[in-house]
Order: sequence, then structure tokens, then C-alpha cells
Amino acid sequence: MNSSSSIRPDIERILFTKKQLLTRIGELADQLVADLPDSDEPPIFTNIMGGAAHFFVHLTEAIGDRGQLIEDFAVFKSYDGEESTGTAKVLIDVRYRITNRDIVIVEDIVDTGITMRAILDLLESRHPRSILICTLLDKAEARIIKDLKIDYTGFRVEKGDFVIGFGLDLDDKYRHLPFVGILKQ
Ligand code: IMP
Repeated sequence: MNSSSSIRPDIERILFTKKQLLTRIGELADQLVADLPDSDEPPIFTNIMGGAAHFFVHLTEAIGDRGQLIEDFAVFKSYDGEESTGTAKVLIDVRYRITNRDIVIVEDIVDTGITMRAILDLLESRHPRSILICTLLDKAEARIIKDLKIDYTGFRVEKGDFVIGFGLDLDDKYRHLPFVGILKQ
């Protein structure tokens, strides 16, 4: 790789450094440890790939030995470039039978809410005992689906900003950046 492949010029500014992200993720982990329902069976943390992958690893590691949990994942597709398609398609379904289980959905960002609604519709149809939603970022002002209750939010971001890094992508690029930044228009 040479210096002409640098992606710095693509980035408007850094919104959250890795240090800020990890501090906030630690706080979310503390809240989850305090709130998770008591049950004989461990909660299933569902990693909504690939955007939530970085967040998921840090969140579950921050919970660490304070509680047992099971890691599962699913893949949905709702974006084409920077545009939401208005629907969300299941590409890979969860692996676990979730009836009567406690679920924590771990997402990178909730924007219009269409993807989260689709995820909830799918999981709720299988009658879990409880569902909590934990998102690293929230573009709350962009919400189209109004009846969505987000239980844990890392940071709010402006609806007009397209953010990348720490798992968030544009066509699968920029996910590897160790910060969340705003992409230049
Ligand atoms: P929604 O269905 O509009 O809520 O969009 C949620 C999904 O769109 C997220 O899981 C992301 O994959 C993607 N998304 C929404 N906004 C952004 C952004 O600013 N950067 C990267 N991905 C985004």
C-alpha cells in the first residue's frame, strides 16, 4: 500500500475516538449486567453483522466474567450505497432456537428503524421471553418507524451525517477504521 491509498481525504471529521467508544461501551456493558433478567438459561446476544461486529466484540468482552451469555449472529441487508432501500432482507438467520429465551439485539446504528423493525418482527414471531435492543449509534431524528423502543444507545448522531468506521461501512469499505467518522459528501 502506498501513500496515495490513504483514505483520510474521504473523511470529514472524527466523531468518536476509539477511547471514547470503549469508555461508552464499558458503561453500556455495566448497565446490561445490572439489567439482564435472571434466568436458568443465559441471554443470547445477537450480533447484527457486519456493522455491529466491532461493537459486539468490545461489548461482550466488557461484560467479561460478570455473566454467562451466548453469542449468535444474523445478517440483514437494507442499504445500497448511502441509500436505505426501504425494506430489510434476511440474508443469514439466527442459529439458535429463541423461544422463551432472553435476547439482546446488538446493532451498529438505527436510522429510519426499518431494519430494526424487520429484525424485531422476525425474532418476536418466535416468542422469546424478552428482547432488549442495544445500538452503538442512533440517528433518532431520521426515524420513520415511530414505535421503536431502543433500550441502550451509545451515542446520538445527526440524521444528515453518513458515518463510517468501527464496523460501519460504505459498500463494505471503512469498517476497519478504529474510530467513527463522518464521510465527506
Ligand atoms: P435503517 O433501516 O434506516 O434504520 O438503517 C439501519 C442500517 O442502515 C444499519 O444497520 C446500517 O447498516 C445502515 N446505516 C444507516 N445509517 C448509516 C450510516 O450513517 N453509516 C453506515 N451505515 C448506516
